[in-house]
Amino acid sequence: MVLWGGRFAAETDELVRRFGDSIRFDYRLYEADIRGSIAYARALARAGLITPEERNQLIAGLEQVRAEFEAGAFQVQPDDEDIHTGVERRLGELVGPVAGKLHTGRSRNDQVTTDLRLYLLGEMEVLREALVGLQGAIVEKAETHLDLVMPGYTHLQQAQPLLFSHWLMSFFWKFQRDRERLGDVARRTRVCPLGSGALAGNPFGIDRRALAAELGFSAVSANSLDGVEDRDYVVEFLAWAALLQVHLSRLAETLILWSSRAFGFVEVDDAYATGSSLMPQKKNPDGLELMRGKGGRVIGHLTGLLTTLKGLPSGYNKDLQEDKEALFDVIDTLEMELPVAAGVIRTLKVHGDRMTAVLDDRMLATDLADYLVRKGVPFRQSHHLVGRAVRRAEELGLPLKALPLAEYQAIHPAFADDLYAVFDFRRSVETRSVEGGTSPAAVRAQIEEARKVMTNESITSEQSKRSTQYL
Ligand code: ARG
Repeated sequence: MVLWGGRFAAETDELVRRFGDSIRFDYRLYEADIRGSIAYARALARAGLITPEERNQLIAGLEQVRAEFEAGAFQVQPDDEDIHTGVERRLGELVGPVAGKLHTGRSRNDQVTTDLRLYLLGEMEVLREALVGLQGAIVEKAETHLDLVMPGYTHLQQAQPLLFSHWLMSFFWKFQRDRERLGDVARRTRVCPLGSGALAGNPFGIDRRALAAELGFSAVSANSLDGVEDRDYVVEFLAWAALLQVHLSRLAETLILWSSRAFGFVEVDDAYATGSSLMPQKKNPDGLELMRGKGGRVIGHLTGLLTTLKGLPSGYNKDLQEDKEALFDVIDTLEMELPVAAGVIRTLKVHGDRMTAVLDDRMLATDLADYLVRKGVPFRQSHHLVGRAVRRAEELGLPLKALPLAEYQAIHPAFADDLYAVFDFRRSVETRSVEGGTSPAAVRAQIEEARKVMTNESITSEQSKRSTQYL
């Protein structure tokens, strides 16, 4: 026998064991796990598989384990492979052999995905509230700057004047859709797989519907095999998060750009910025840069999980354990990031004078073409004629509004003295009074509508429960 043989084998086993252990990250499922187990103990008693006394013993024991977690007194043991084995091991220490009855007909396969759904539903509620907080910050800021006209951009070139509030509200609606989508993901997350067993279903006649209802689910999964292996709800949640993250990232990038000296439109509050260790004058919008940067991470987790899932054969496979770190990381990221985003908006200094100073009257060229349209010139022609006026003004080194009437009339006789009234940014904005337009009245109406949809309805409300397709 080689000298190191035994030791080597033991070392390898230890490594593989550590490789497979998940308790270091699934520890946070303890509350959902215990809640699920208490409901399962009740279901076992209802099915006559354990006595009411045994049920009470199990529930009392599980509550004690929960209290230990909450007091930070739970001690992870080397054999606690995951949160499910850890809780059951401790339950056995507390209540004795009856603990061995809790797992009757249950598998960690239906247990883990039940826990994950319960946990995720709780976090979705936290995220929904954080989103409402961000929407609230946007609406308040928009309301306090209703008079401010700024350049609007396409291709990062000045395009047409906009109200600053209109720009800001364009993000409100993105986050509103994110909130709606979250409710949609929640509906499909609120389906209970418990009772699916390892893959074939529970053989002891437990009442799955009662179990599901007790845990706050609104439906039971329709197929035990699908029940244990379905991670669509995690993918959907990550996809939801990725798109939300894209919105946050675009908001951040725009504000980073606008806080640069070349624009100088906004200034991030000191509380959301940092300095440089070398250059004393620097004020960097770090909070916003991280909001932009987190995009890579969150999108990466979605791609990662899809890649893990795509090659799996039917049934539970240990690969599915990879769902958790991705999910937890995304939840942690967004639960910090959304309040930061709200804070940046709430405290943002808006330099209206800088926005006004760079308004270029060529942004009113479209209004000038519209002026000709109102005089009967077809738009395609008026567009071309105003283009010529812009070129002529540039040749003469003049702003468009300083081009003499004779020059305008040489381009087209429909130009008259009243054309100069077009060169008024406020007037331009006011003409866009169509629903969804940038006129102050339209933006005020938009804000009113936003306040209406910004209700504080929880995603577990009765209304959203009813819309589920299963029960
Ligand atoms: N820790 C495992 C997971 O996260 C729990 C399920 C284990 N099931 C099994 N058959 N090994 O997926």
